[in-house]
Amino acid sequence: MSSEKISRVGVIGAGQMGAGIAEVCARAGADVLVYESTRELATAGRDRVLKSLDRGVSSGKLTEREREQAAWHLRFTSDLDDFADRQLVIEAIIEDEAIKTAIFASLDKVVTDPDAVLASNTSSIPIMKLGMATADPRRVIGMHFFNPVPVLALVELVTSLETSDEVIARAEAFAHDVLGKQVVRSADRSGFVVNALLVPYLLSAIRMVEGGFATAEDVDKAMVLGCAHPMGPLKLSDLIGLDTVKAIADKLFEEFKEPLYAPPSLLLRMVEAGRVGKKAGHGFYRYGDNGSSK
Ligand code: 3HC
Repeated sequence: MSSEKISRVGVIGAGQMGAGIAEVCARAGADVLVYESTRELATAGRDRVLKSLDRGVSSGKLTEREREQAAWHLRFTSDLDDFADRQLVIEAIIEDEAIKTAIFASLDKVVTDPDAVLASNTSSIPIMKLGMATADPRRVIGMHFFNPVPVLALVELVTSLETSDEVIARAEAFAHDVLGKQVVRSADRSGFVVNALLVPYLLSAIRMVEGGFATAEDVDKAMVLGCAHPMGPLKLSDLIGLDTVKAIADKLFEEFKEPLYAPPSLLLRMVEAGRVGKKAGHGFYRYGDNGSSK
């Protein structure tokens, strides 16, 4: 296994998580290639990263020069074959097992370096299933980031039964030493550590609103002022995306069959209505063009 430091990174998907992951890798000085399926989605992804870098400058976290350097480290493509020389690929597309396994099967053929690490930012899909889509599940690992990625310090490192010790060490060194994130390790159990605890809490809050027990505003206010959470559970659900919350709940329920993981009807109806939260401009709250809630 290579001890070469990872400097060529690929990110699959430039939605809110993929864009955030690409941003932190570029800010850390890695050469970052980002895949989106169409040119339009790639342009939207680039805009997402540049907007966040601008925010870094306006809040004094980045200098103009650092922003330029980070932008310079980023390239976008709609051709997966361009990933052949990557040393680490982090997949961050939607929580859909069939689509993710198809991507891992393709990456396995495209990424030529046998020591390259193939990682997924999945929040709930077993890493073993993604590994088994490849010819070498030893190089497949979970690297689970948190939204907003530039702000939150954690990466959950999820190892399957087959992930090799070398791949774990390389992924941990990249997350900690290069990106400056704190790492916790988790076994390959649906929801890992954070979502197994967080998602039942979010679902309980949705059930409270659904049952007319309290308004979304009051539930959020209660948790912000009563427990010093940075945001309440309904606003956090909007931030994560209600489609993603549902997808994680479905996976947790499928694995554990516990009623507390079952998505409530209100969540299902909101997803069907397209009210999936901040990214859609409408969830439990409405959002303006600048993302502020109203
Ligand atoms: N990019 C860069 N910096 C950002 C940012 C972004 N997208 N969003 C916020 N920031 C920075 C701001 O510049 C600010 O920095 P400062 O304090 O030094 O000025 C700081 O972060 C706080 O931001 P704001 O002042 O704009 O806003 P808030 O104080 O309201 O914080 C928040 C916003 C960071 C989102 C905070 O409310 C928070 O941490 N909420 C909880 C988020 C959370 O729990 N995320 C985990 C979700 S679970 C997950 O992602 C897993 C998945 O599998 C579901």
